[in-house]
Amino acid sequence: MAQTLNRGPVSGTAGTPPSKKKPFLVDFYSTAVGKKYVMAITGIIGIGFVVVHMIGNLKAYLGVITEGDERVYDIDIYGEFLRELLVPIMPRTYVLWGLRLVLIAAVLLHIHAAYSLTVLNRKARPVKYQSPRDYQVANFASRTMRWTGIIVALFILWHLADLTWGWANPDFVRGAAYRNLDASLSRIPVAILYIVANIALGIHLFHGTWSLFQSMGWSSPRFNKWRRGLAVGVATIIVVGNVSIPVAVLAGVIEFDPDAVTHEEAAE
Ligand code: HEM
Repeated sequence: MAQTLNRGPVSGTAGTPPSKKKPFLVDFYSTAVGKKYVMAITGIIGIGFVVVHMIGNLKAYLGVITEGDERVYDIDIYGEFLRELLVPIMPRTYVLWGLRLVLIAAVLLHIHAAYSLTVLNRKARPVKYQSPRDYQVANFASRTMRWTGIIVALFILWHLADLTWGWANPDFVRGAAYRNLDASLSRIPVAILYIVANIALGIHLFHGTWSLFQSMGWSSPRFNKWRRGLAVGVATIIVVGNVSIPVAVLAGVIEFDPDAVTHEEAAE
């Protein structure tokens, strides 16, 4: 006897079918395509942050500058500049806190979308890939996204405890970024941790930058070469710029000298 297949309409997306009651964005986020958009947009915010942050880190190479009668490390002035953004239109640190909140929301959404996409994929393919052939399709970076992501997330927590809150840095002085960098990265295991975490970040950024075009629907064979160049460029610039800092500290190129400055830290 012929069996009738009782299939629903083909929606083109995996995941929970959109319900009518929820607001559009919540509804959209419940689909696999919505989660991929969120991964891509929050990923772009993250890339923007790491690029700006890396440029800020390079200010460590500018050493001491003179401001009136004061001699201060340039990177400490940069920290103060961030706290003073849009003053006097806005009270001090408000803009910085606004940016921090956007970044925290982006990181949390990125992690949530990644987790729920993994759950959706598992539901769609309850039996694991059986053949090693499948692994040839996915490259090293794409297969390691989860692990590089976890390493970067754990690194951020350590990094905040080390250079922002100071719990993990016994010689920490608030507002003295240059001094704290030297104190932290002169510890060889810590320098190695920074190097490993930044290489993991580079691998994550390489695949992330490449695949966000796919997620946003901007993929075309015409600019795939250009896309690859961008992914390699972003990852290389971040890794080289950031890894150079612990290397420069260990080599003595970045070295805090209390006699070179009039104050150890910029105003808090
Ligand atoms: C060798 C590489 C890095 C160096 C030398 C470095 C240096 C610093 C320093 C000195 C601060 C404290 C700034 C201050 O409070 O005045 C800081 C804050 C921070 N860093 Fe990094 N960083 C590095 C890599 C990274 C990476 C890879 C990430 C993220 C993926 C990251 C995320 C952050 C965040 C979220 C903050 C807190 C920003 C804020 O409080 O406004 N850093 N970093």
